[in-house]
Amino acid sequence: MNKNISALKNISEKESRSIIGLMSGTSLDGLDIAQCIIEGCGHEMKLQLKNFTTVAYNEEFKNEVKKVFAKETVNLQHLTLLNEWVGKKHAALINDTLTEWNLAAGDIDLVASHGQTIYHAPLSLHGEAVFGDGTLQIGDGDHIAVNTGIITVSDFRQKHIAAGGEGAPLAAYGDYLLFTEEGTDIILLNIGGIANFSYLPAENDRNMFSTDVGPGNTIMDAFVQQHFPGQHFDKNAAIAKQGTVNDLLLNALLDHDFLRKPLTKTTGAELFNLSYLKNALKHSGMYQLNVNDVMATLNRFTAQTIVHAIQPLVKKGRPCKIYASGGGMHNPMLMEWLEQNLTGAVLLSTQEKGIHPDAKEAILFAILANECVAGNGDNFPGGIKNFPPVTMGKISFPS
Ligand SMILES: Nc1ncnc2c1ncn2[C@@H]1O[C@H](COP(=O)(O)OP(=O)(O)O)[C@@H](O)[C@H]1O
Ligand SMILES: [Mg+2]
Repeated sequence: MNKNISALKNISEKESRSIIGLMSGTSLDGLDIAQCIIEGCGHEMKLQLKNFTTVAYNEEFKNEVKKVFAKETVNLQHLTLLNEWVGKKHAALINDTLTEWNLAAGDIDLVASHGQTIYHAPLSLHGEAVFGDGTLQIGDGDHIAVNTGIITVSDFRQKHIAAGGEGAPLAAYGDYLLFTEEGTDIILLNIGGIANFSYLPAENDRNMFSTDVGPGNTIMDAFVQQHFPGQHFDKNAAIAKQGTVNDLLLNALLDHDFLRKPLTKTTGAELFNLSYLKNALKHSGMYQLNVNDVMATLNRFTAQTIVHAIQPLVKKGRPCKIYASGGGMHNPMLMEWLEQNLTGAVLLSTQEKGIHPDAKEAILFAILANECVAGNGDNFPGGIKNFPPVTMGKISFPS
């Protein structure tokens, strides 16, 4: 037997696996690195987060990726070079982090790499029926495997699309295994660059679904980066707090077909970007609005789209818990508004269930890699929209 296959077989048969989950979202803030110890698989799986860090990207990394990120037209040579460059950078960040944690490559069974999304193109965005849904993540797994010496599972989203999904949100799979609670409707709300949630109703698995909602931090971040050079985001909503929500601009922001489209749907920075804001400023005639008022309005825009999508799912007389995660949780203005306006449900952090809210997405990819290597392939119900019961991820060997 090929020695790589034999190593993989051994990992698959282990009682517990040490898996590094990696997440690099559309916010381009940094690489989330989560070392998970996962015992078993599927509903019997037990997960423990051993170590977690977010390594902030330097300006060079952000600038190189931004040359292609969410852009319709790019330099193809640059994109080709980035695919391996991002993989090597991620490998170097893993190696540095393992040294910091006093761990060696031999202590880790698998790396689960999401890669860097550079374009998410659901049919709802591009409208060309002949092509269907598409998405592209770069930072090829072969470069991570060779440069870390660890078997790497990567590029999870293509299989989801191949099996009939939109390629996002993939959080649904881990959410389903980790958070289902008897007798309570559960909503897992993640506020990253884009806001998404999984809905796990108490009464029937088969009514579960997972969807994007609209912007999380993406337009807010882009606006800050445009007006406050050197700042990546509106830290603790300091800028927004000095402004007032402008109703005319807010209504123009809310007036978009994507937001009226029924659930489930997916989106990205290809739609929710500075052009989106520019259009809304134009339609509302609010060109002269000061930066603080624009920030306050963008903040409310994110909050309101989340409430509009989630509130109808909160049923009278049925307990409902919303567990939040993602960087948006650190935005006090956003969270306060959600807390006050999501009625009939309790808003909590995923920490209440032992899952670090900043590490959650990286943990979910570690779970997908665990299912890929050790799962039975039948841990997910079929027949649910945008939730094909398939094994995701491609396997790269170090040698
Ligand atoms: N203290 C904070 N105040 C306001 N916003 C924050 C704070 N910390 C993080 N964020 C927001 O969270 C984003 C990162 O969220 P994250 O969940 O990592 O998203 P992604 O998955 O897209 O990378 C940042 O770009 C920023 O907008
Ligand atoms: Mg991030």
